[in-house]
Amino acid sequence: MQVNLLKQKTEAIFESFKEKFENVTTDEKKIDITLPGEPMSEGALHPLSIIRNRIIEIFSAVGFTVSDGPEIEDDWHNFTALNFPEEHPARDMQDTFFIRKNPDLALRTHTSSVQVRIMEKHKPPLRTISPGRVYRNEAISARAHCFFHQVEGLYIDKDVSFADLKQTLLYFAREMFGADTEIRLRPSYFPFTEPSAEMDISCNFCKGEGCNICKYTGWVEILGCGMIDPAVLDNCKIDSNVYSGFAFGMGIERITMLVYKINDLRIFSENDVRFLKQFSGIG
Ligand code: PHE
Repeated sequence: MQVNLLKQKTEAIFESFKEKFENVTTDEKKIDITLPGEPMSEGALHPLSIIRNRIIEIFSAVGFTVSDGPEIEDDWHNFTALNFPEEHPARDMQDTFFIRKNPDLALRTHTSSVQVRIMEKHKPPLRTISPGRVYRNEAISARAHCFFHQVEGLYIDKDVSFADLKQTLLYFAREMFGADTEIRLRPSYFPFTEPSAEMDISCNFCKGEGCNICKYTGWVEILGCGMIDPAVLDNCKIDSNVYSGFAFGMGIERITMLVYKINDLRIFSENDVRFLKQFSGIG
């Protein structure tokens, strides 16, 4: 009984609508196609993606491939193969998140682990970069986070020299920061490279005159690099008597902050649309 009542009522409403629509004049039916459409907001790439893509583009142009690996990594690929002996204080350079149930596993602290995987799997000549997310147990501040993004690079062949490293990184710096950019290499230490260096670029804000970005030195540090330690090549079954190579690693956040003049790294992961939408249309 109730159901029939509902049916009758619905049908009556339907009929009245039908009548109404059938009686509209043709003029009323016309749509004004000249009216502006509903505005659509366009998505945009995250600034870190824009800069990562640019870095890939720059290195692809000189023959580097792009390689990828797992974010949960074992001790061998993240540390031991890279010449970080167990219990060695160099491991403290990178505060690590270990997986509690299996201390042999950790969140990778750098994408050098991908390079070990590439060296183990492929024969030289090798020329590849590894972009990806890495994790370190650091206090979160304007300059550091517990995760960030890196691009590390690797070049192995016969007779690769420090001059090749320098020229490749000078090329990168000029493509990324402008043709008048200069580079400076300072001696440093990494367990997997010998000799090792930190690379600075001439400050692209003050053009060397001194400002708070370069701490009034005219130079800004952007990456670590060096010649691959022969022990690392041997660990990965590449004959260090025949082959040599260089490696480098940079933080994408750092490069992005310099390119877009961003002074707090936390903003990259806050999902604040007011920040993110400023990059639409770029890249
Ligand atoms: N793996 C180093 C880091 O994460 C960077 C680096 C890579 C340094 C290759 C030298 C050579 O700090």
